[in-house]
Amino acid sequence: MKKITFAILGMGNRGTAYAAKQLKYPDEMEVTAMADIRRIRLDAANKYLHLPAEKMFDSAEALLEMPKLADIMVIATQDAQHRDHAMRAMERGYDLLLEKPMSNKLDDCVELVKAAKRMNRKVFICHVLRYTVFYQQIKRLIAEGAIGKVESIEAAELVGAHHYAHSYVRGNWHNEAASSPMILAKSSHDMDIIAWLAGKSCEKVTSFGSLDYFRAENCPNGAAERCAQCSVDCPFNADKYYMSRIPGWPANILHPEPTPENITEVLKTSDYGRCVYKMDNDVVDHQVVNMLLQDGVTATFQMTGFSNRQTRTIRVMGTRGEIWGDFKAKELYWQRFCEEPQKVDLDCLCDDFTGHGGGDARLVYDVIRFMRGDKFDTTSMTTIDRSADSHILAFAAEKSRVLGGELIELEKFKKECGI
Ligand SMILES: NC(=O)c1ccc[n+]([C@@H]2O[C@H](COP(=O)([O-])OP(=O)(O)OC[C@H]3O[C@@H](n4cnc5c(N)ncnc54)[C@H](O)[C@@H]3O)[C@@H](O)[C@H]2O)c1
Repeated sequence: MKKITFAILGMGNRGTAYAAKQLKYPDEMEVTAMADIRRIRLDAANKYLHLPAEKMFDSAEALLEMPKLADIMVIATQDAQHRDHAMRAMERGYDLLLEKPMSNKLDDCVELVKAAKRMNRKVFICHVLRYTVFYQQIKRLIAEGAIGKVESIEAAELVGAHHYAHSYVRGNWHNEAASSPMILAKSSHDMDIIAWLAGKSCEKVTSFGSLDYFRAENCPNGAAERCAQCSVDCPFNADKYYMSRIPGWPANILHPEPTPENITEVLKTSDYGRCVYKMDNDVVDHQVVNMLLQDGVTATFQMTGFSNRQTRTIRVMGTRGEIWGDFKAKELYWQRFCEEPQKVDLDCLCDDFTGHGGGDARLVYDVIRFMRGDKFDTTSMTTIDRSADSHILAFAAEKSRVLGGELIELEKFKKECGI
């Protein structure tokens, strides 16, 4: 069987997650080159990739200077870098597995869609939720008519207070200009899933939301700059939190070898050890989006940083019944009106729920199959043109939010952005 080869730009959390799929599909994929500006991340991944030194690059730019080294390039650097890295990789002849968001700027997204078409490159966006057994089962039930015609969808992303504080107050996505607005960074998945499940495009959108809590004015009296020196009793104490998460996520984001000594060192100097009320964060901590899709289908979406649990929930309401579920809990039910509820046994359908409920692995596997030319149903794959719709919807929702909830008509919005 032909192995599909992967080169990877950015060996952080995501790049490493994709690289590790070589251990899951050893006969079908091979990582042949990787790049990161942090040597420690290259060395950590090379413990299982075993690449020769000349295939480990100290920047994406250095790797992109080389002739083509793989069938497909994974772009897993930060949001604001995607446009340049993706353009350069396509110019070098690579097909792409491009992390979402494809860019944090609407103009760049439009440019990337057009460039992929012009250069005839296959570009898959990492909207991994579509590849999960949880959402695929909802899609199947809808397609089989289990609940009749879909009329409304209610979806929520409970980010989790600690995840929110880690990623969106202290971490990589805390500042919109440097990364992306929350609805794009975190919830473009949800924009994608809602429209995909309904099988309809969004026609109109409004949104409200703000950064209400994680601000200087809510800082308790006497709080120190860094949690290590702080005597305030606070649920967001970084030292307590990260120490309690060793050796898993998100302690392993702070250091690839998350020992208590290494984590203590990182917390002394990085933003991860700082007070949540004294950051330069500006992304919203809660947001709602209202959507009118084709054929009168309505949908609401709620993102909140104020939850104990970190999960997504969904309820799809049709003319003959309902489907509802909790992604993290792996719970999925459906019920026709006047009949008993049915449980979908997800454990029977999937043996690996790691990495976005199994979506990471399944995305890589489908990309391998696609690149190999296997015959299978590819209609749900997140090609760049399909994923462009959910990016545009996220940008439109953000525009509405910034304008205080103004109605945005998607056709007009698309024309304005030239797509
Ligand atoms: N699909 C999803 O569900 C999902 C989940 C989380 C993050 N993401 C996206 O994936 C991307 C990566 O996120 P992450 O969590 O892995 O972040 P990360 O910070 O852990 O990884 C990014 C890596 O890029 C490296 N890097 C920076 N500049 C570089 C350069 N010039 N050349 C080479 N390497 C460079 C950094 O050192 C870092 O290791 C982001 O765009 C993020 O929004 C997607």
